Amino acid sequence: MHPALEALGDYPLARFQDLARAMAAEGTPLHDFSVGDPVEPTPRFIRTALIDAVPEVSQYPTAAGLPELRQEIATWAHRRTGVRVDPDRHVLPTSGSKEAIFHLPLAVLDPDGPRDGALYGTPGYAPYERGARFASGRADPEPLSAASGWRLHLEALERDRLDRAGLAWLNYPHNPTGAIADRDYLARQLATARERGVTLASDECYLDIHPVAGPRPPSVLEVAADASSAEGPDLSGLLVAFSLSKRSGMTGYRSGALVGDPELIRRNRLLRPNIGTASPEFVQRAAIAAWSDEEHVAERRATFDAKRAVLLDFAARAGLAVSGSEATFYLWLAAPGGDDAAYAEALLAHRIIASPGRAFGPGGHGWLRLALVPSVEGCQEAAAIWERAIADGSLPGH
Ligand SMILES: Cc1ncc(COP(=O)(O)O)c(C=O)c1O
Repeated sequence: MHPALEALGDYPLARFQDLARAMAAEGTPLHDFSVGDPVEPTPRFIRTALIDAVPEVSQYPTAAGLPELRQEIATWAHRRTGVRVDPDRHVLPTSGSKEAIFHLPLAVLDPDGPRDGALYGTPGYAPYERGARFASGRADPEPLSAASGWRLHLEALERDRLDRAGLAWLNYPHNPTGAIADRDYLARQLATARERGVTLASDECYLDIHPVAGPRPPSVLEVAADASSAEGPDLSGLLVAFSLSKRSGMTGYRSGALVGDPELIRRNRLLRPNIGTASPEFVQRAAIAAWSDEEHVAERRATFDAKRAVLLDFAARAGLAVSGSEATFYLWLAAPGGDDAAYAEALLAHRIIASPGRAFGPGGHGWLRLALVPSVEGCQEAAAIWERAIADGSLPGH
């Protein structure tokens, strides 16, 4: 067995998924807020684009992806961030963003060199750590806190850690806390990473899922573009991961993109034919349809906004402390009593599944993550059950 695999054990949410599956198999109706996999249908025009693109003979897709898809991603990036990226030099389609995030250290970290570390915040998304370890790199987590808005401040880290880092991960809007970063913060992180020679990787898969009335989260691409010249934006040392999963309700399709520094894109283009993760061309055709449309994204935003409003109201009534939670995909609550695992177990008895914060690393201890996956009605039902349980004393409220 690969030692990195042996050391990691189960995927953090696997135990909760198993429990939920077992309860569902017994016919117990569940309010499942554990996995960030929404249930709203993929818009019909996207499904149709996929079906219409299934050919009689389907051959291997290329790692570089269809030129039309790269172009559509560049067009979307311009619409969303105001930055004109070159579809051939700056853009690489991926099979969702998870595999690209996991594989990135294989392209940009030298495990035998002086910069073998990957910096990331905890709590955070597991592949930042796991990708580094499987690439024989060094995982270097930094605890995040409510006091610092769940932000990773590279400029506050010890010199030595930056000198030994090849890669640093940002992720705003943030999983698991739902925190949003502002432009000044992103500009400081990019400037620090560049000054200290660290590749900055920004995971922005939740960029388009934010409150209808704002704030609209900025992309680090916008900040990089402040230094645009006649030759185009300066994306040196920067890679951004985007995804259609949450934006367009396409978690099952597996489609995303890396956008950034031409040299970093080139390294990924060299790496990826070895892995075989290119997205099937009929999925790429569906992706072209999805990136080209904003109307369905606005509808999805409104839906998540409504779910968040239901649960924020409930948390306020029940006296549950909320932190982060500025974006609309996750709510982050302080676990009453302080033990997130015990509280998540207790919630299960009420058929509500929340993720204990520790599933996202040691920095998540004491918190609960709710992924706004059930329908608006499902959120209302779950809130009513939870509120009754607090009122009758079967669940602690503070
Ligand atoms: C922070 C973060 N990044 C990336 C992903 C991967 O998404 P996908 O591979 O579906 O694009 C997720 C999925 O939940 C996530 O939470």
